[in-house]
Amino acid sequence: MTGNRGRPSRGRFCDPAVMEILIRPARDEDRPAVLALAARLAEGVASWRDPEAAVDAARQWLDTSLDPARERRGEVFVAVADEQQVVGVVSVNEQRHFTGAMEAYVGDLAVAPAAVRAGVGRRLMTAAEDWARRQGLRHLTLETAAANTTAQRFYTALGYGEESIRYTRVL
Ligand SMILES: CC(C)(COP(=O)(O)OP(=O)(O)OC[C@H]1O[C@@H](n2cnc3c(N)ncnc32)[C@H](O)[C@@H]1OP(=O)(O)O)[C@@H](O)C(=O)NCCC(=O)NCCS
Repeated sequence: MTGNRGRPSRGRFCDPAVMEILIRPARDEDRPAVLALAARLAEGVASWRDPEAAVDAARQWLDTSLDPARERRGEVFVAVADEQQVVGVVSVNEQRHFTGAMEAYVGDLAVAPAAVRAGVGRRLMTAAEDWARRQGLRHLTLETAAANTTAQRFYTALGYGEESIRYTRVL
């Protein structure tokens, strides 16, 4: 669960010569910075949905994921720039697929606007995948909005394949 703790490695946030990105499990003191990233999770929300409700829901999911007393098996990892500034977050949990198999599920992934395209998202997903492997899980799954083409390009670049498509009709 804490395999990335204390293992800093270089990232490319801002100036690669001076900035260092560390991926580690989230701590209680990260909570305000992590919750501030929740606004990113309304990206691509369908026009028929309430964007504020989407942000509120994301904030609640992250808040619950950070609760040390939570019952679900999971982990939250943060990306920290220069050992102080949280610039990304991913939450991963274990859930049961309808076939009965247990799998890992990434509920939240967000990178601060100032830190995108620097490899932070990729490294957060690697942390989530490593966590899933340590649990003995064979699949990691997630959902994203149909309009979130950035996320779709990102997951495709990381090797994820489409598994299901969700349709909605506004009544
Ligand atoms: C999606 C998101 C997490 C990507 O994070 P990131 O740190 O910018 O991604 P990375 O720098 O690790 O990108 C890895 C690869 O993904 C692809 N990629 C990422 N952003 C892309 C974009 N805007 N357009 C095209 N390809 C993109 C590229 O192949 C990239 O590799 P490269 O930079 O070497 O070309 C980030 O844009 C984000 O937080 N978006 C808002 C929240 C969100 O949509 N979360 C996902 C909801 S399910």
